[in-house]
Amino acid sequence: MSDNFDVLVIGAGPGGYIAAIRAAQLGLKVACAEGNSYGNIDNQPRLGGTCLNVGCIPSKALLASSEEFEKISHHADIHGINVQNVNIDINKMLARKNNIVDKMTKGIEFLFKKNKITLLKGYAQFSSVDKQTGNYLLNINNQDIKELVSAKHVIIATGSKARHLPNITVDNKTICDNDGALNFADLPKKLAVIGAGVIGLELGSVWRRLGAEVTILEASPNFLSAADEGVSKESLKLLTKQGLKFNFGVKIENVENCDDAGVIIKYLDNSGNIQTLEADKLIVSVGRVPNTDNLNLNAVGLTTDERGFIPVNHDCQTSVNNIWAIGDVILGPMLAHKAEDEGVAVAERILGQKPHINYNCIPWVIYTSPEISWVGKTEQQLTKEGIEYKAGQFPFMANGRALGMAESDGFIKVLACAKTDEILGVHIVGANASDLIAEAVVAMEFKAAAEDIARICHPHPSLSEVMREAALSVDKRALNM
Ligand code: FAD
Ligand code: NAI
Repeated sequence: MSDNFDVLVIGAGPGGYIAAIRAAQLGLKVACAEGNSYGNIDNQPRLGGTCLNVGCIPSKALLASSEEFEKISHHADIHGINVQNVNIDINKMLARKNNIVDKMTKGIEFLFKKNKITLLKGYAQFSSVDKQTGNYLLNINNQDIKELVSAKHVIIATGSKARHLPNITVDNKTICDNDGALNFADLPKKLAVIGAGVIGLELGSVWRRLGAEVTILEASPNFLSAADEGVSKESLKLLTKQGLKFNFGVKIENVENCDDAGVIIKYLDNSGNIQTLEADKLIVSVGRVPNTDNLNLNAVGLTTDERGFIPVNHDCQTSVNNIWAIGDVILGPMLAHKAEDEGVAVAERILGQKPHINYNCIPWVIYTSPEISWVGKTEQQLTKEGIEYKAGQFPFMANGRALGMAESDGFIKVLACAKTDEILGVHIVGANASDLIAEAVVAMEFKAAAEDIARICHPHPSLSEVMREAALSVDKRALNM
C-alpha cells in the first residue's frame, strides 16, 4: 500500500517548500519530494532548491564578501581610513557562504518537522491515476529504493537548471554554470562570461571585485533590455567604470577547454570580425530551462510547451484536474519571490480560497553595485502600449545620506499616469535599491498616486527621501534640486 496525502509537492525550492508549509498550516496532510543533494558527499537531499543551494543565497553571500573587500581595499581612504596589504582568503569566503547555505537548508528541515510535512527523499515521477479514488500515484526514486505514494493534489515545483550551449561542455571546473561559478577555489586572473544577464552581472561582479579581469560576451546588441532604458544606460556606464568589459552583439563560434590552462573562446564581434579571448575560467550564463524531463508527465496526460514549461492558467492550474505547477517550471519571471507567492496561492486555492497575485507588482533586483531594481512598466513599455505618462527622476547625488555613505551614484525614476497620477512603474539604480523598491511595490499594490508618495513623511536623512523627491519630480516640484 502506498502512503496517501492530500497534497504532494514535487521539489523543495522556494516555490515547493513554501507551498508545503502553507498547505500544512491550512490543515492538509502534506508530503514534499526532493532528490537533489547539490553535490554534498552524504548524498542526502538538501532542501531550498536552486535559491538556497546554488542561487540567490550563496550568490548574495559572495556579493557581500566581495563588496566588503572592494570597499576596504579601494574606498576606505575617502573616509580617512588607511588600510594596507588587504588580501582575501577565498577558502574562508567560500566556507562562510557554505555555512549560510547549511544553516538555511537545516532551517527548512526544522520547518518541515514543525509543520508535520513528510519529506520524501528522492525524485518523484508520475506513475498512474488510481481509478477508484482518482488520486495520483507517483514513484519516489532514490538510489536504493523506489517508493509509491498517492496524493489527491500534486504541485509541480521542480524549478529550473542552467541552459547550456551546444558544443560547450560545462565541467564546472574550467567552464562553469552558476554552480561552479559560486565555488572557484582560486581567483581567476582572467574570467570570461557568456551572457550579460542577471547571473553574468552578479557573479562577474563578485570575481571582478576580488581582482579578476572580467570580459562579458553578450549576443544581444543591447544591455539589460528588460530594464528601463535610462536605468540600463546608467548601470552600463557605472559597471564599465568599475572595470567590467562588455562586448555586445557577439556570436560565439567555438570554445576550447584547455583544463588547467584555461579556455580559448573564438567569437564574431558586432562587426563580424573573428576575435579570440583567452581566460582562466569561463562562466556560461545564458538563461535557465525548466526541469520537466524526468517527471513522466505522459502518465497523467500532461504535456509541456516546446520550451519544456508546464502550461497553466492564471491560477497555476494545469490542464489536468488537481495538478498544479508553480515557480520556474512555468512561464513568467524566474524569481524566488514569484515562486513563493505562487506556492502560497496554490495551497490556498486547493482549500477553495481566492488569493490573487498581481504579476505587474513583482519586483526585480539585480545585486550589482550599485543595485538595480524595478517594478511595473518601463518607459519603453508605456510608449509601446500608447499609455500617456509623466516621469519624475531624482539623483542620489543630491541626497545627504547617500553622500555620507559615499554611495551617490544613480537615481530613482517614478512613472505615473498622465491623467490619474497613478504610479505605473518605479526604476532604481543606486545603493540599497533592493530595499528601496519595497516602498514602490506597496504603493503600486495600493494603487497609490505619485502625489501620495510625495506627501508621505520620509525619514531624514535617508535614501528613501530620493523616492519622495522622484515622486515630487513627477509634478516638477522636487524640493532639493
Ligand atoms: P528551484 O529553486 O529550482 O527548486 C526546484 C527543486 O525541485 C530543486 O531542488 C530540484 O532538485 C527539485 N526537483 C526537480 N525535479 C524533481 C523531481 N522529479 N522530484 C523531486 N524534486 C525535484 N531569484 C531571486 O528572486 N533573487 C535572487 O537573488 C536570485 N538569485 C539567483 C542566483 C543564481 C545564481 C540563480 C541560478 C538563480 C537565482 N534566482 C534568484 C532565481 C531563483 O533561484 C529561482 O527563481 C527559484 O529558485 C525558483 O524556485 P522554484 O521553487 O521554482 O525552483
Ligand atoms: P538571463 O536571461 O538573465 O540572461 C542571459 C543573457 O545571455 C541574455 O542577456 C542573453 O541575451 C544572453 N545570451 C543568450 N544566449 C547567448 C549566447 N549564445 N551568446 C551570448 N549571450 C547569450 O539569464 P541568466 O543570467 O542565466 O539568469 C537566469 C535567470 O535566473 C534570470 O533570468 C533570473 O530569472 C534568475 N536570476 C535572478 C537573479 C536576481 O533576481 N537577482 C540573480 C540571478 C539569476
